Amino acid sequence: MRLFLAGTASSGFHPAICIPMNSNIFAAMPSLQEQIHAYELEINAFTPADAADLEQYRIKFLGTKGIVKGLSTEMKNVPPEGRKEAGLLLNAFKQLAEAKYEQFANLKEDATGGKVVADITLPGTEIPMGTRHPLRMVENQIVSIFERIGFGVATGPEIEDDWHNFTSLNMPENHTARDMQDTFYVSQNPDWVLRTHTSSVQARILETQPLPVRVICPGRVYRNETISARAHCFFHQCEGLYVDKGVSFADLKQTLYYFVTEMFGPDTKVRFRPSYFPFTEPSAEMDISCTVCGGSGCSLCKHTGWVEILGCGMVHPNMLRNFGIDPDVYTGFAFGMGVERITQVKYQVNDLRLYSQNDVRFLRQFQGL
Ligand code: PHE
Repeated sequence: MRLFLAGTASSGFHPAICIPMNSNIFAAMPSLQEQIHAYELEINAFTPADAADLEQYRIKFLGTKGIVKGLSTEMKNVPPEGRKEAGLLLNAFKQLAEAKYEQFANLKEDATGGKVVADITLPGTEIPMGTRHPLRMVENQIVSIFERIGFGVATGPEIEDDWHNFTSLNMPENHTARDMQDTFYVSQNPDWVLRTHTSSVQARILETQPLPVRVICPGRVYRNETISARAHCFFHQCEGLYVDKGVSFADLKQTLYYFVTEMFGPDTKVRFRPSYFPFTEPSAEMDISCTVCGGSGCSLCKHTGWVEILGCGMVHPNMLRNFGIDPDVYTGFAFGMGVERITQVKYQVNDLRLYSQNDVRFLRQFQGL
């Protein structure tokens, strides 16, 4: 092995074995650097195809008659003034050759014949996990609770006409009940609105589906409210509708008891208060015992022990008639709940704005739920 042939320091030299350009060692032993550089390129480019390949590498570079050994034995030919720097150079080269070997040495062989596929000892690449949005999660829970007792899922358009959002639901033009929901009008003639509730989907179901129907309608709704912790210009609802022969208020109550038990646990108490909705008669609002204080009084239940979670009632005969259904033959119940409200009660989220601010510190708290 020749150590001192003519040559110059080349660029791209491995930093670990780079000797400063002004070093006088290059004058004395230019080819040592050149040879090592060539070997270094070979080592860097080397990836063993299998265990035998790696063994070949070991013998070639690190074996008793290998290149590292050969270069070391020739150190005695280096003039004394250059030995120190040549020693450093060789040492770094040896480390490089050994590191490459160790990188692959503890790889496991696969069952088919020893192909080296990857360095399984290296840590894996971390894949960041996203989380479901809490509203979507709760919506999924609500939907699946009702699916288990035979409700289908129906969705409809968010830009809705007057007929489906109001008139067909027993709220004719100029009906004062329209004031209950501050509405975004998109156009006036024809009347297009951003739907104020997903009852519009129920209207579309009664219009198109043969009876009996049993559906749950999740979706986003819009109301012209000033945005605050307690109100938003858009939110989400899940409304249910069941129309068949002989459906009674007892069926409504039993269905909602089942929902509450599944959603909030078997110890949750329920109460109904008489209420008014134009599309149901009789109508009620349903409260559950406060999930935070259990009924003793706290800020969530405003110290009443109860939190309101939904509106409901028996489908108004006028609404059935609007879709050509005879109310003397068919009856039905409907209910509607705000998904934000259910999420607030279940997870104590106290500011509605959090749901749409995309703050990961908030969203990450729902990871894995
Ligand atoms: N649509 C009503 C609302 O948005 C809720 C509701 C649905 C009430 C069905 C009764 C029956 O407030």
